[in-house]
Amino acid sequence: MNNFTFHNPTRLIFGKGMIEKLTTAIPAVHHIMVTFGGGSIKKNGVYDQVIRALKGRDIVEFWGIEPNPTIETLRKAIELGKGKQIDFLVAVGGGSVIDGTKLISAGLNYNGDAWDLVKKGSYYDCIPMGTVLTLPATGSEMNNGAVISCKETQEKYPFYSDYPVFSILDPETTFSLPSFQIACGIADTFVHVMEQYMTTTGQSRLMDRWAEGILDTLVEIAPQIKNDPKNYNLMADFMLSATMGLNGFISMGVSQDWATHMIGHELTALHGLTHGATLAIVFPGTLRTLRDQKKDKILQYGERVWGINYGSANERIDKAIEKTEQFFRSLGLQTRLSEVNIGDETITEIEHRFNKRGVAFGECQNVDGKTARAILENCK
Ligand code: NZQ
Ligand code: ZN
Repeated sequence: MNNFTFHNPTRLIFGKGMIEKLTTAIPAVHHIMVTFGGGSIKKNGVYDQVIRALKGRDIVEFWGIEPNPTIETLRKAIELGKGKQIDFLVAVGGGSVIDGTKLISAGLNYNGDAWDLVKKGSYYDCIPMGTVLTLPATGSEMNNGAVISCKETQEKYPFYSDYPVFSILDPETTFSLPSFQIACGIADTFVHVMEQYMTTTGQSRLMDRWAEGILDTLVEIAPQIKNDPKNYNLMADFMLSATMGLNGFISMGVSQDWATHMIGHELTALHGLTHGATLAIVFPGTLRTLRDQKKDKILQYGERVWGINYGSANERIDKAIEKTEQFFRSLGLQTRLSEVNIGDETITEIEHRFNKRGVAFGECQNVDGKTARAILENCK
């Protein structure tokens, strides 16, 4: 196990009706900015609950943080917030609203253009923020990451800032989610766990078991959620799985991968594909390409998550990869580039971008432009 420091300061406020706790969760501040997406929360009652809980506070609303939040939109929020001397932010929505608000919280304390901060990769001098989550997927409600896009240049990069002070998770807010967003959220959670688990064996028994616990939970609840998406206990388990999948609890002292995510972000930047949908395509390709490097861990995963304990090592690896792809398909997602009409031109562009940036991802830092191409070729 590697040395590590663990710190996660986000207070989780979880359960039915807990949005009313906003009243006491926000400290004594003067001017609050509340941020929203495109309006889904007006239809499902979340907006009304938030406004009720904020009665008597000085708030300004900012609407329109889009899926894959763009710097173009966030600049407007930063300008508005600076004018109003905002000293606390509340993000109400999915990962995009929360991510966008993380950049707003940093941009409010920065004198230049907030895109500089994204290019720099991190900024920790932030206005504090809390969240009300409506879509389980990203873990953004309990981590310090965000992913910000630039429409003009078709780029999308990770950015690190402060953790939310608190996050309110009421599983009932998910009852209005379209089935495609639920599928993408399950795929995203599954791949977050895999990015931290699917590396090498023997680093930490505990991290392995916790990761496998989340994977087992997702495999068990996914078909049930499909049949019963308004089941409180199922959605509660899904919501907590998503949070636990990317809040640092399963990555203590172990190596991580993240190559699938970095390739997926390019597919979104270039084609607007939904984040979880990109992962369902790329992750099986990553396994097919790096099956030798990840051999022992694929065997462990196959046995513990899918019960594959027969056949030669090669056959068991084949089976584990097949099961993974089938799982994404069972959610209703596509798993091949050809199904979303993405071809060689995009593969070449992504290879070129990785080469130009001089980046290499994965636990062995060997997913450079050439390997990214090989992975994408394996997703055709
Ligand atoms: O904008 P509204 O109207 O709210 O609609 C949203 C949006 O259209 C809708 N939605 C959200 N909650 C709903 C709902 N519709 C009905 N009922 C509800 N309760 O769902 C659509 C998608 O929302 P979005 O926030 O974009 O989805 P998600 O939570 O999957 O976030 C995706 C973004 O997070 C980034 C992704 O790259 C992407 O930009 N990620 C952030 C991470 C992080 N901060 O740690 C890690 C992830 O790997 C990921 O990269
Ligand atoms: Zn993700």
